[in-house]
Amino acid sequence: MITIRAEQRKDIAGVRSLISDAFGQSDEAQLVDDLRQNEDIAYSLVAEIADTINGEHLLVGHIVLSNLQAPYRALALAPVSVLSSFQRQGIGSALILAALDCARADGFEIVFVLGNPQYYSKFGFSLGDAEPYECDYSGPHFMAILLGKVLPQPSRLIYPKAFLDLE
Ligand SMILES: CC(C)(COP(=O)(O)OP(=O)(O)OC[C@H]1O[C@@H](n2cnc3c(N)ncnc32)[C@H](O)[C@@H]1OP(=O)(O)O)[C@@H](O)C(=O)NCCC(=O)NCCS
Repeated sequence: MITIRAEQRKDIAGVRSLISDAFGQSDEAQLVDDLRQNEDIAYSLVAEIADTINGEHLLVGHIVLSNLQAPYRALALAPVSVLSSFQRQGIGSALILAALDCARADGFEIVFVLGNPQYYSKFGFSLGDAEPYECDYSGPHFMAILLGKVLPQPSRLIYPKAFLDLE
């Protein structure tokens, strides 16, 4: 049984290794460390599963929504990671939906993501909703999901510095 909850301090090392496992490299784990260090994270959620053999909990997934600089309440979704041996079991989808629920409940207006349109459109992200917004990642993989009732007035978005350091 999978539980999704807010990341705690005790999870940090486990989160780092699960992100590295999911991506097969450590750049995205470093990105999350830097976002956390710079206090740019709005939500960091983990998915954990009870290990029936030793009774401990195993971290199997993680997602970050970080704060964008904009004249309205906007977030960036990235990265989302599922331990390689647990992929394609719905954990990534559950994390994305849970993170969007948190953002919606707290009154955020819009969430942006840079990723595969086929994957993210399942959650309501669209290329069209992101098109009016200009940022360093604008292009064919830049999508948005509107959480409020109306699209905020288009303006330039600024991603947290840690994303620029990733390039
Ligand atoms: C992308 C990722 C987070 C998805 O999590 P997941 O738990 O495996 O995904 P789900 O089981 O919820 O996926 C549902 C659907 O997404 C699609 N999907 C999932 N993983 C996919 C992959 N690696 N490639 C293409 N499509 C994928 C499939 O359509 C899948 O449906 P299916 O099982 O009917 O084929 C996970 O595969 C992962 O950690 N990948 C490595 C890191 C990464 O690329 N992160 C995303 C960019 S930030």
